[in-house]
Amino acid sequence: MSTETKTIQFSAESLNVCNRIIARYPEGKQKSALLPLLHLAQAEFGGWLSPDTMDYVASILKIQPIEVYEVATFYTMYNMKPVGKCLIEVCRTGPCWLRGAEDIVNHIENKLNIKDGQTTPDGMFTLKTVECMAACGTGPMFQCGDHYFEDLTTEKVDELLEQFRRNPPPVRNIV
Ligand code: FES
Repeated sequence: MSTETKTIQFSAESLNVCNRIIARYPEGKQKSALLPLLHLAQAEFGGWLSPDTMDYVASILKIQPIEVYEVATFYTMYNMKPVGKCLIEVCRTGPCWLRGAEDIVNHIENKLNIKDGQTTPDGMFTLKTVECMAACGTGPMFQCGDHYFEDLTTEKVDELLEQFRRNPPPVRNIV
C-alpha cells in the first residue's frame, strides 16, 4: 500500500457525489459503490487510476486496496496508466471489425505514430482498442470524452483528430 494516500482528496463537489453514491447501498454493502467511485476518481484525478488513487477509494469504502485493484484491473474502462488529453477508444469487436475497424485503428496508428495502448509524446492522444460499446449498427466507431463518433471513415478520423487537437473533449465522467 502506498504511503502517499493523504495527498489524494476528492473536491468538495465530488465528495458530495461520492456520499450520494455510497448512500444508495444498505449499511455494510458499501463495496457495491466501487465501480461508480472508480469512475468518479478517474474523472477527477487525470483520467487514470494510480495506486494512490485506488488506495484512497479503498479507504473511503473501508475495504482492502487489493479489492479495488482486482476490480479496476478487470475492466478496460479504467486506465491503469496515464492517458493523453484525448483518449480514443476504438471498438474492435466483430460487427465494427466487419465494417472496417481494423482500417481505422491502422489509420490512427499511422497518423499519430503510436501503437494501441500508447500515448503521443506531446501527451495529446492515447489510442486504446476496446470491446463492444453498443453502437454496433453504426460502426466503425470510437469513444472520446463523453461522446461516440460513429460511421467512421479515415477522412472523418482526420477531421476529428484536428478538431480534438484544438479542443480536447472533456474526460469522461459517467457517474
Ligand atoms: Fe462495435 Fe458493438 S461491435 S460497438
